[in-house]
Amino acid sequence: MIGRLPAPLDASFADVLRDVAREHRLPAFDDPKMPDLVRAMAAVYNDDKLAGLRGTREQLAARLAFWFPRDVPKMAGAVRELVAMNRLTGLKVLDFGAGLGASHRGLARALDGGVLDVIATDADREALKLAQSIAKRAPREGNVEIKLRVEDRVPRGPFDVILIGQVLTELDLDKTPEQRLQLHAERITGLARFLAPEGVIVIVEPALRPRSRHLQRLRTPLVSAGLHVLAPCLHHGECPLLPREGDWCHEDLPVDLPDFLVPVAKKAGLRWEGLTFSYLAVAPKPPRLVDRLVAPKRERVVSSLLVTKGKREAILCGDPLVEGAHGARVGRLDRARSESNEAFDSLGRGDVITLGPLDEKLRVGPDGAVTHLELQTAGPRA
Ligand SMILES: C[S@@+](CC[C@H](N)C(=O)[O-])C[C@H]1O[C@@H](n2cnc3c(N)ncnc32)[C@H](O)[C@@H]1O
Repeated sequence: MIGRLPAPLDASFADVLRDVAREHRLPAFDDPKMPDLVRAMAAVYNDDKLAGLRGTREQLAARLAFWFPRDVPKMAGAVRELVAMNRLTGLKVLDFGAGLGASHRGLARALDGGVLDVIATDADREALKLAQSIAKRAPREGNVEIKLRVEDRVPRGPFDVILIGQVLTELDLDKTPEQRLQLHAERITGLARFLAPEGVIVIVEPALRPRSRHLQRLRTPLVSAGLHVLAPCLHHGECPLLPREGDWCHEDLPVDLPDFLVPVAKKAGLRWEGLTFSYLAVAPKPPRLVDRLVAPKRERVVSSLLVTKGKREAILCGDPLVEGAHGARVGRLDRARSESNEAFDSLGRGDVITLGPLDEKLRVGPDGAVTHLELQTAGPRA
C-alpha cells in the first residue's frame, strides 16, 4: 500500500460524541433507541434515490452517532497517496457539503502536523452546527489543529484542497444519469476555479455500484475539461471497468469501526469490519501518482484476490499506452509460484504493482516477477 492505512477514531472520541449529542439534545450512540435509528438511516442511504432523506432530528442523531465516526477514515484513506507524495502543499481547505465534518477530520488524521484552515459549506445548517460543536470540543487530530469556519456560500478561495465527501451521491437525484454526469462535471470544474495553482480536489463516494460507477464515468468529462486524475487511476483514458456493468472500482481497507460503535452496528445489522468507499483525486496540474512510480508498467489491483483451484487471479487496471493489463483478469498458476512472483499470493484491492512478462493467457510464469511499487522520492518520472 502506498501511504498510511487510516486508523479508526480514538476511543476518547466517544466522549466528544456524547457531549455534542447532549448539547444538541439528541440521543447519543449509547442510547437504547440508537440501533433502530441507525437501521432506519441505513435503509435511506441504501436507496438509490435517497427517498427517505428528510434531515429529521432522528436522522441527524444517527449521523452523529454512527456515520460521522464511521466515515472519518474514508477521507484519510482517499488522501493517503497524496500525502505520501507530498502533493498537498497547503492547508487551506474547502469542505463542500461538509455535513458534520467527517471529511476534513479525515484529512486532518492523514496529516502529520500543521493548522488545517477549513471553510465548511452545506445545504443543511443543523448539520453544520454539529460540525462546529465537534470542532470546538475536538480542535486537534494528533499534531494537526483544525480551525473551522462555516459559510453559507462557497467563497472564491484560493483553496489548497477541496473535499467533496459523499455529496455527489445526494445531488440532482431527480435528473437522468446523463444529466447528473454533466451537472456534476460542471460543478467540479466550477469549484476547480477556486483552487490554488497546486491545489487538488478529492471526491469520495459510497462504494455502492451505481454511485462508484457514476464517479468513474465523471473522469472523462473532467479530463476533457483539463483536469488531471491524480489517483486512484494510473492512466488518463476511459475507465476500463465501465463496459462491464457488474464491475466497479472501490477501496476495501482493513479498518474496523471504533470499539464503542461495534455494539450499535451489531444490533442494527450492519458490518463493523472493513471500510469501503470510492475516491477520485483531480487537479489542474500534475504530478499524478503514476508520475511518481518508477516502472515500465504500472498496475493497480481493482478486485480482491480471486482464488480458485490451482490458480490465483486479480483484475488489474494499468496504463493502456504501455501495454498494461488495462481492465484485464491476470493470473498465476499455483504450480508457477516462484520467489520472484510470490507477491501474487497476497495481492489485495488497491495495491499498486508492476508485473510481467504475461503469456497469451495473461498469466505470470515462474520466471515472471510481481513487485509492489513504491514512490520515487522526488520529481516526476523522466
Ligand atoms: C452524506 S453527507 C456527507 C457529509 C460529509 N461530507 C462526509 O464526508 O461525511 C452529504 C452532505 O451533503 C449535503 N448536501 C446535499 N445537497 C447539497 C447541496 N446542494 N449543497 C451543499 N450541500 C449539500 C447534505 O446536507 C449532507 O450534509
